[in-house]
Amino acid sequence: MAIDDMQRTPLIAGNWKMNLDLTSAGDLAKALHQNLDGLPGRDVVVIPPTPLVHAVATILDESTIKVGAQEVRAEASGAYTGDTSIEMIKSIGATYCLVGHSERREYHDETNKSCCEKIRALLNAGITPIYCVGEKLATREAGETLKFVEEQLRVGLGDIDGEEVLHVVVAYEPVWAIGTGKVATPEQAQEVHGHIRGYIGHLFDPEDGEGIRILYGGSVNAENIDGLMACPDIDGALVGGASLKADVFERIVKFEDV
Ligand code: PGA
Repeated sequence: MAIDDMQRTPLIAGNWKMNLDLTSAGDLAKALHQNLDGLPGRDVVVIPPTPLVHAVATILDESTIKVGAQEVRAEASGAYTGDTSIEMIKSIGATYCLVGHSERREYHDETNKSCCEKIRALLNAGITPIYCVGEKLATREAGETLKFVEEQLRVGLGDIDGEEVLHVVVAYEPVWAIGTGKVATPEQAQEVHGHIRGYIGHLFDPEDGEGIRILYGGSVNAENIDGLMACPDIDGALVGGASLKADVFERIVKFEDV
């Protein structure tokens, strides 16, 4: 895709994780619809638990806010009790899907290879994957963050070509910053984001590196979003805990564009 067609519009995604129920998710979606619909210069995505995707997508149907799923299986159908296919999430209104979130890597044996299969299958179905990468504290302390993230990108994006990579969103989420209140400093985040952009340029084409959107995630809140978004290679945020309160999430989406 030509670079001109694909501006790096800031994208703020709210990962609701395993929280809320039909009523509270509906209330949150209605509040967001009221206050964030049609906001210029921002892409907004909410990512509810799978059983709530349909209800949330129905509420947001007429709005500019998109809905994503947290997890899918790459296979089209079959004997996979408890799993969800891509066609299922697509048929209930999801247009984005997380891949490789660190909680899936930790609790469900997600690997770079399985992420690769999911990204391939999601792109085939026209769903935008949000591919999560990021290191644990021990890896950072060993000075191996950049090498570790490169490997996640090399394998995870290993089955797509330059035509497709701009349809993927990358989220850099240092595992030590998720749900801990310990946000990466803008300098720490920028260092990795700049490296990711360069590495994607190396894997595909420099224009792809320039065009791809790279979100930061890990304890993003209303207080730290402006500093993060001021970094040249941070194109948005993947927000967990702070996306569950409408007013806080709205403030994050309306970050100061400095
Ligand atoms: P957090 O989660 O904002 O609660 O740290 C971010 C994420 O896991 O996507």
